[in-house]
Amino acid sequence: MAIFRDINKVLFGLMEICILFFLSEGGETFKIPPTCASYKCPKFKVVDNVKDIEIRTYDQSYWITSPFIPSSTFKPAGDQAFLMLYNYTNGSNDRGAILNLTAPILVETSYQLSKSKSKSLALPSYKLYFYVDPRFQKNPPSPLQKDLQLVQLPKFAVAKRFVELVDEKSINAEISALKGSLNGTRWETPARGGRSTVASYTEPEEAANRISEAIIWFKN
Ligand SMILES: *[C@@H]1O[C@H](CO)[C@@H](O)[C@H](O)[C@H]1NC(C)=O
Ligand SMILES: *[C@@H]1O[C@H](CO)[C@@H](O)[C@H](O)[C@H]1NC(C)=O
Ligand SMILES: *[C@@H]1O[C@H](CO)[C@@H](O)[C@H](O)[C@H]1NC(C)=O
Ligand SMILES: *[C@@H]1O[C@H](CO)[C@@H](O)[C@H](O)[C@H]1NC(C)=O
Repeated sequence: MAIFRDINKVLFGLMEICILFFLSEGGETFKIPPTCASYKCPKFKVVDNVKDIEIRTYDQSYWITSPFIPSSTFKPAGDQAFLMLYNYTNGSNDRGAILNLTAPILVETSYQLSKSKSKSLALPSYKLYFYVDPRFQKNPPSPLQKDLQLVQLPKFAVAKRFVELVDEKSINAEISALKGSLNGTRWETPARGGRSTVASYTEPEEAANRISEAIIWFKN
């Protein structure tokens, strides 16, 4: 009997260590979105997780971006930007190349002061990013449309998942929530001044399996 007690003690001791280990490690790594099985997604490594956020390093890669499109609500600007970027993948580039669609699509928001001096309301504008088809990453074709731009994002990113529909409200709310989670962690300072985006992995209509992330991209 004594030997069983001892084994139990050791086992419980080990369990305790494991539980403490998990607690101190914070959350678990997010599951790869199902979309990434049929579409190519940019590759990354998880370097840390704390609370409900994940810190990643991405392979350096090109994204094709729309201009910022002013709009009081996200959808019209998002639809317009989507068509502009889709056009680039559908041959509107200096090689007439057809690029595969990819995931996720990033949204960045900017606020411009209204020109009318009576109301200094900040008007939102929205910019979309498509991850360039990996087959073209080494040497992406240039867009024919002058207002589209190829860009590279900083290597580090901090991400927080959410399932709400991506719109003008959730974009701000989820980026604020991410900043709240970052607060007090060792990533707060490096991520400060990073580029805030929302990443959408699913079609807006696909409510049941929606996966989105607030992501701040930063240099470390
Ligand atoms: C991308 O496009 C090529 C050529 O059209 C195709 O063979 C491939 O299956 C497509 N899909 C992915 C996910 O790369
Ligand atoms: C798509 O590309 C074609 C050819 O470059 C261009 O004439 C057209 O205006 C573009 N449409 C959009 C919505 O960008
Ligand atoms: C894609 O490009 C082809 C060839 O230029 C064109 O016929 C087609 O309408 C385009 N598709 C969309 C959705 O714009
Ligand atoms: C960060 O935490 C401090 C102290 O707990 C708090 O005063 C501050 O409002 C928090 N900031 C954000 C962005 O949550």
